[in-house]
Amino acid sequence: MSDPMRPRASLRTAVVWEVLKEALDDKVEAAGSDALDVLDTGGGTGNFAVPVARLGHRVTVVDPSPNALFALERRAAEAGVADRVRGVQGDIHGLFDVVERGGYDAVLCHGVLEYVDDPAEGVRNAVDALRPSGTLSLLAAGLGGAVLARALAGHFTEARHALGDPAGRWGEGDPVPRRFTAEQLTELVAKAGVEVGAVHGVRVFADLVPGALVDTEPGALDALLKLEAAAAELPAFHSVATQLHVLGQKQGPDRR
Ligand SMILES: C[S@@+](CC[C@H](N)C(=O)[O-])C[C@H]1O[C@@H](n2cnc3c(N)ncnc32)[C@H](O)[C@@H]1O
Repeated sequence: MSDPMRPRASLRTAVVWEVLKEALDDKVEAAGSDALDVLDTGGGTGNFAVPVARLGHRVTVVDPSPNALFALERRAAEAGVADRVRGVQGDIHGLFDVVERGGYDAVLCHGVLEYVDDPAEGVRNAVDALRPSGTLSLLAAGLGGAVLARALAGHFTEARHALGDPAGRWGEGDPVPRRFTAEQLTELVAKAGVEVGAVHGVRVFADLVPGALVDTEPGALDALLKLEAAAAELPAFHSVATQLHVLGQKQGPDRR
């Protein structure tokens, strides 16, 4: 039976998934090994961890939420990859209390930096978990996307507040504690010893177009997915994306 939620979910994940999958495939080719060791910090219920395990990789998910880890376990079992997904309760700030330093070919840090106490330390730990030349996949909320969304919803004062707020929040009721510009994210990863390979804008249009249009207009979802993919790579659209994805490779110890 088809899952009615899948098309909408693909709007949130398609761009990141395509970039990540290609990076993992390249790594497999370079390493000459079919199964990589992948760490998903703040991996939650396995939106990425489970599909990565379905590619044949061994995935460790570190997350502070027992509920998320429980859902992850169930989801991995349903997908038939329970033997390749390990959930560990932990925090990105105490990452090496629960996982090995320098033990992973790829580290995912998706939708986590917004919530951590110290984003710079979070990124450093994610990078320190990588083997030399390991791949970092970082996804975080973009400042400009939130400003645009608030303005288009008619919340002009909140939009202006977010523009001037050091954390990029639009007000007290904002559920997201912190947002980033592409420059802030690339600086964070560069300082942690990662060479940036690509930056993509994620959900440039998806959150702004009326849902009914996407759901009812024949072919609209597919066309929107293609538009998102085309715009994601263009720097001009990074400043208005809901999320920003940074892909990079860990440099040698002398490059930090
Ligand atoms: C928005 S969800 C993202 C989940 C998943 N990475 C994804 O892309 O679907 C944020 C996740 O970060 C986790 N989280 C919050 N604070 C964290 C921290 N300090 N260290 C690690 N994970 C954290 C939450 O429990 C939650 O599962």
